[in-house]
Amino acid sequence: MAEPYYITTAIHYPNGKPHIGHAYETIAADVIARFQRARGREVRFQTGTDEHGLKMAQKARDLGVTPRELCDEMSGYFKSLFDTLDISYDNFIRTTEDRHHAASQALWQAMEANGDLYLDRYEGWYSIRDEAYYDESELTDGEGGEKLSPQGTPVEWTVEESWFFRLSHYAEPLLALYRDNPDFIRPASRRNEVVRFVEGGLRDLSVSRSSFDWGVHVPGADGHVMYVWVDALTNYLTGLGYPDETDDFTRFWPADLHLIGKDIVRFHAVYWPAFLMSAKVPLPRQVFGHGFLLNRGQKESKSLGNTTDPVDLADKFGVDPLRYFLMREIAFGQDGSYSPEAIVTRTNAELANSFGNLAQRSLSMISKNLDGKLSITPEADEDLALLAAVDEGVATLIERFEDLDFSTGLDAWMKAVFACNQYVDEMAPWALRKSDPDRMTGVLMTLFKCVRKLAIAVRPVVPGSADRLLDQMGVAADARDFGVLADNTWFAGLVDAGFQVDKPIGVFPRLELPEEATA
Ligand code: MF3
Repeated sequence: MAEPYYITTAIHYPNGKPHIGHAYETIAADVIARFQRARGREVRFQTGTDEHGLKMAQKARDLGVTPRELCDEMSGYFKSLFDTLDISYDNFIRTTEDRHHAASQALWQAMEANGDLYLDRYEGWYSIRDEAYYDESELTDGEGGEKLSPQGTPVEWTVEESWFFRLSHYAEPLLALYRDNPDFIRPASRRNEVVRFVEGGLRDLSVSRSSFDWGVHVPGADGHVMYVWVDALTNYLTGLGYPDETDDFTRFWPADLHLIGKDIVRFHAVYWPAFLMSAKVPLPRQVFGHGFLLNRGQKESKSLGNTTDPVDLADKFGVDPLRYFLMREIAFGQDGSYSPEAIVTRTNAELANSFGNLAQRSLSMISKNLDGKLSITPEADEDLALLAAVDEGVATLIERFEDLDFSTGLDAWMKAVFACNQYVDEMAPWALRKSDPDRMTGVLMTLFKCVRKLAIAVRPVVPGSADRLLDQMGVAADARDFGVLADNTWFAGLVDAGFQVDKPIGVFPRLELPEEATA
């Protein structure tokens, strides 16, 4: 049976429409999910919306709607964005679902049974924007003298009766976890931050709120709802059927990867493993905190008026160019910048003029010069050398993607594409048409084989376009995983079946810079 692989994104607050950062995280997770499927793993991929908490309750009040109305409307925008972006999630979870309330209460009871919950009073700072408690020592002064969180968000002094989780008991076990599993938190810079934070000592964490009621009710404690992060984190278990020992739970838990933004690493790498240790649930294997996406080097914000609707971006440039750009341009784990010019330049240089052109000219010469017919031909040294170069580029892509290093992986892939284009120029098959038609056929067959390998390799990143290309090449829908890359019988199969290449339809069009972007 295929080895399971469970990947999750953060679930997002549906207090407004999704922005480009949501698209970035989910695209990256989708590339990983598709990549692991192509590797032969049985993948479970979960995303969703995080619908409780004060931020949601306040936003609904400001808009004059109920929190549930707000969630229903906004959650729909997230789901439809993910559908637009070709996100192959298996489960879209909403924390307002009954099954999620049940899972959160079960986790709570397991922590309680372990003696880790007690009732007390919280007095301290809270950021509604971050839904986070901060220690006085972490705050900075804003321009007007007001206190700001380390994320630059406003904090308010909060006093209320609250349940507490004995986080202080978990500092040592957590440090041991980080020590024994150096890859538990990635990238390393994030890991170092977390280790420093935990080494500084942990205070018990307030895990319920009693001043409002938009949340999961604390079992046996009227008037308390869970702190939104306690229920939010539990989503990763809910989706597998926790607390029931379902087949999904047995098979997919612990998660292989929680992919999240760098600003919420503390919740995932400190609170979450502590909750799980307390509840005696096995720990996830890895938490990866990706960087922020900047618009021409600036953080997007409503006040700067530089927000981008990711649906517009996908409409303007195409889903696959956007996906390719984000994975190629940004060193995964670091912040990165985007602009319409950068998307257009990258797409045209690499997808349209390099890979697209290679595929288009190869297929079109086969269609025109050979009536679309494929045949078995002797392989010359140059052909074997090119096939080997492509195999090497593809192997590097696979190795780099396995390590979540997408930009370097795609760089290796691009080098293999360049090698193919150089081969076309050197072999000049158009010139062989009269002088040495057999050799022309050999060159074109080599190109056909290379284009297939390159398309299969890049398919996790540009699934729609790669499939449209592979369709035109007669590559069966169930023969597009990495396991078939080394298989040479497929080609003989196509030849035997008398497959013919039609006049190809390009799948990577050149982009123009939209007018408003040049102004
Ligand atoms: N909604 C949170 C945020 O956007 C993320 C929650 S992730 C989860 O910051 F793990 F808690 F679900």
